[in-house]
Amino acid sequence: MATNDLHQFDVLVLGSGAAGLTLALDLADRYKVAVLSKGDVSAGSTAWAQGGIAAVLEEGDTFEAHIDDTIRAGAGLNNRAAVEFVVERAPAAVEKLVKLGVPFNVGEDAAHPFHLTREGGHSHRRIVHVDDATGGAVQRTLEQRAAAEPNITLFSNKVAVDLITERHVGTGGPRRCYGAYIYDRKRRRVERFAARATVLATGGASRVYLYSTNPDGSTGDGIAMAWRAGCRVGNMEFNQFHPTCLYHPQVRNFLVTEAMRGEGGLLKLPDGTRFMPSFDPAAELAPRDVVARAIDHEMKRLGLPHVLLDISHKPADFVTGHFPTIHARLLELGIDITREAIPVVPAAHYTCGGVLTDLAGRTDLAGLYAIGEAAHTGLHGANRMASNSILECLVFGHAAAADIRASDDGAPVPTPAPWDESRVTDSDEEVVVAHNWAELRQFMWDYVGIVRTTKRLERAKHRVKLLRKEIQEYYGHFRVNRDLLELRNLVTVADLIVRSALARRESRGLHYILDYPRQTDTPRDTILEPWARG
Ligand code: FAD
Ligand code: SIN
Repeated sequence: MATNDLHQFDVLVLGSGAAGLTLALDLADRYKVAVLSKGDVSAGSTAWAQGGIAAVLEEGDTFEAHIDDTIRAGAGLNNRAAVEFVVERAPAAVEKLVKLGVPFNVGEDAAHPFHLTREGGHSHRRIVHVDDATGGAVQRTLEQRAAAEPNITLFSNKVAVDLITERHVGTGGPRRCYGAYIYDRKRRRVERFAARATVLATGGASRVYLYSTNPDGSTGDGIAMAWRAGCRVGNMEFNQFHPTCLYHPQVRNFLVTEAMRGEGGLLKLPDGTRFMPSFDPAAELAPRDVVARAIDHEMKRLGLPHVLLDISHKPADFVTGHFPTIHARLLELGIDITREAIPVVPAAHYTCGGVLTDLAGRTDLAGLYAIGEAAHTGLHGANRMASNSILECLVFGHAAAADIRASDDGAPVPTPAPWDESRVTDSDEEVVVAHNWAELRQFMWDYVGIVRTTKRLERAKHRVKLLRKEIQEYYGHFRVNRDLLELRNLVTVADLIVRSALARRESRGLHYILDYPRQTDTPRDTILEPWARG
């Protein structure tokens, strides 16, 4: 294999969203950093975020309140140390973004430097935002800064296939990560990226479900790669369903921000009656799991294809002032939100579990870090509170960067073996990939969704097993491409979700199972160990 198939960097970052770029910028003064994305650099979830970033920034709010709200939303499963770690670092993380140039909406005076909005589960207004398109502004700013750093190289269209570990470098030494095998979509071949530290910042896995608010690439690649490389994963049963995804025949994954409910938006049935007050005292501002379940319940009870989210009772300039992006987008689709209600349904939104890490983002494998939505840090518990996610990306991006700096010994990285393509050919039946994608997402939606039963989970387990075998065989025979790699990862993630869901014999947060409707007294994480693979 030609030597230009071997790339060498100090740090390899898989993922160019808020988590990966934050880490890369922290290290760019001294380290050669490669940041890879599998499509366009800005095509991850970060750019799609609407609501904002949670932080205690005003008098009257306290760290204790943010911590308590996070743990209440997380149904008590959160790791308190992780929650404190994040909440206490949130104001500095926001200030850092301001310094980098993110144009957050400003408050009225020096005592109120930011305009703060409110979302479900939060007892205070504490969400900094850039109108209703916060993620776009964060992504743009971080990307511009990264592009200006000579030590950072941004690569698009490079899909990580698997991690390079000691068995690929023939050292026979201790378990360690040395980089990753990467499929170049333009050249259609697999390259080697070798590095002293490798960071999984690959985002979540919500596209394992038929309906999702996420971009196409949220296929859990980092979680699946880490699992294959021998890392533990945690709490995969807790996939969050956002209550208000637009219901529209042509547009399937457009989110309507929770901030709309924070600013007075009401959930209604088609006859105009509100239903949330009979489900929770906090009504529309109850935590997401409660609201999504209530909508699911009403849709099933009345046979509705959707419910309605209505903010048209507010003055039109208030609505367009707070939600300019959503207003413009829905107007294009023929819905004027200043005058009429929006049809909405719940959709898969966020992966609360992921690769198990400590507070420095370290995984079970030396030299491998996981940050952002790909990681399970213990912050979110059984249900992530709104706007705590980008925050987690920032805090752990900084923490992992600090750890990489502190633990770097400058040791040369051994050369990994080239990718072996001697036994594969080009596929002559791509239909297998398309069919299995569709089947997987459909049964995950039907059997492993908002309300679960053991029987449905067992059905899903059976189907996962059949698909895994088929996909593994296909993978063994044909050259890789992006679709096949994603499908291979999705079936692994589906397996992890189903196994975790079957292991949890209680209903807690996002995991609601009719056979075990009660919450047990002792909250416990579901940690799956690859060495105990079933
Ligand atoms: P992402 O931003 O998803 O980036 C993942 C990166 O990994 C991409 O660059 C992708 O190309 C790359 N990648 C993936 N697999 C591979 C591979 N195999 N090889 C190479 N590269 C790979 N959170 C909030 O806190 N506040 C909000 O207001 C908010 N609103 C949201 C609205 C929407 C519509 C969505 C979908 C999410 C929202 N979230 C919000 C959640 C939040 O946006 C995400 O959790 C967060 O941005 C994830 O950032 P990340 O850096 O971990 O991953
Ligand atoms: C939203 O704006 O409703 C999404 C916020 C989040 O997912 O944190």
